[in-house]
Amino acid sequence: MLSGVAAFAALPAVGAWVSLEGIQGPASSGHGAHGTQTAPMGSSVAPEPSTGSGAAHATNHAGHAGFAGGSVPPERAGIDPTAILHDFDRGTTSTLPDGRTLREWDIVAVDKDFEIAPGVTFPGWSYNGRIPGPTLWAQEGDALRIHFTNAGAHPHTIHFHGIHRAEMDGTPGIGAGSIAPGQSFTYEFDATPFGTHLYHCHQSPLAPHIAKGLYGEFIIEPKEGRPKADNEMVMVMNGYNTDGGDDNEFYSVNGLPFHFMDFPVQVKQNELVRIHLINILEYDPINSFHLHGNFFHYYPTGTMLTPSEFTDTISQAQGQRGIVEVRFPYPGKYMFHAHKTEFAELGWMGFFEVSAS
Ligand code: CU
Ligand code: CA
Ligand code: CU
Repeated sequence: MLSGVAAFAALPAVGAWVSLEGIQGPASSGHGAHGTQTAPMGSSVAPEPSTGSGAAHATNHAGHAGFAGGSVPPERAGIDPTAILHDFDRGTTSTLPDGRTLREWDIVAVDKDFEIAPGVTFPGWSYNGRIPGPTLWAQEGDALRIHFTNAGAHPHTIHFHGIHRAEMDGTPGIGAGSIAPGQSFTYEFDATPFGTHLYHCHQSPLAPHIAKGLYGEFIIEPKEGRPKADNEMVMVMNGYNTDGGDDNEFYSVNGLPFHFMDFPVQVKQNELVRIHLINILEYDPINSFHLHGNFFHYYPTGTMLTPSEFTDTISQAQGQRGIVEVRFPYPGKYMFHAHKTEFAELGWMGFFEVSAS
């Protein structure tokens, strides 16, 4: 039987399809090519990805209702989703004459390869050499300056969600607009409204400029704060189009397919877990988040202090985001995954591991 990994490895890492601005690439070879990468239900995966668990690892995946997969060790991939969970970048702070806090960040767009699945190199476009980009954290009302330099081979921008002047919007043709390779621009605006937001490149053609990896979280904490969480984290739902066309071959949370199967998210029994959840997935119209064995409160966009829903599944279109708050009453391992089987089988699945308190 052709293993999932062998099928992945047989694919060339195609970067050429996005190398021409304005051209989406060759006509899609369509679902024939896509289909060859989707291991059939019940197939096993060669234990090539070395997370240290070896054969047990492969068995592990095969045991999940036929889910197949395997994650690349973070150091080899160039992406560490576990580190990204808790990596809040509060910037360099100083105090303005009016007493407000000024936060500043340097963000550089760089082209960089990542091994996103065993044997599959993704020629990414990144902010600061990572997919997703840094999680920028600010307090409501802070003054923000983002010093952007484009060190990539294509024009890029940073488009922030939030309330700001048109010329700070990172949209081509408005204000500084497109930032050419080698050029810099400083985006400057205030942190408002509070919530869980995002930023991404807005250069045309937009789909590859997002899908290649130019996105990240932008969190604005309310002035009065939120109730203190014991374990606060970010999860960015994304995908990878590795063979051109207009569909994804892999899906993930925090950039690396199947990572949280091999490295479960560690939480403690009964602690308050707060997840800033964002969907930036390109090409597919909708994404979802489903948690096993538990229910959570959901705050759409994080702009209210009271939840709108108590559920175990939510969906987000591209650019939608929200806050998930949950406590695990029992120890053990609990899956979370897209409630879209295709996405789950192609990488968007993981575990919470709850330790007894
Ligand atoms: Cu771009
Ligand atoms: Ca594709
Ligand atoms: Cu957007």
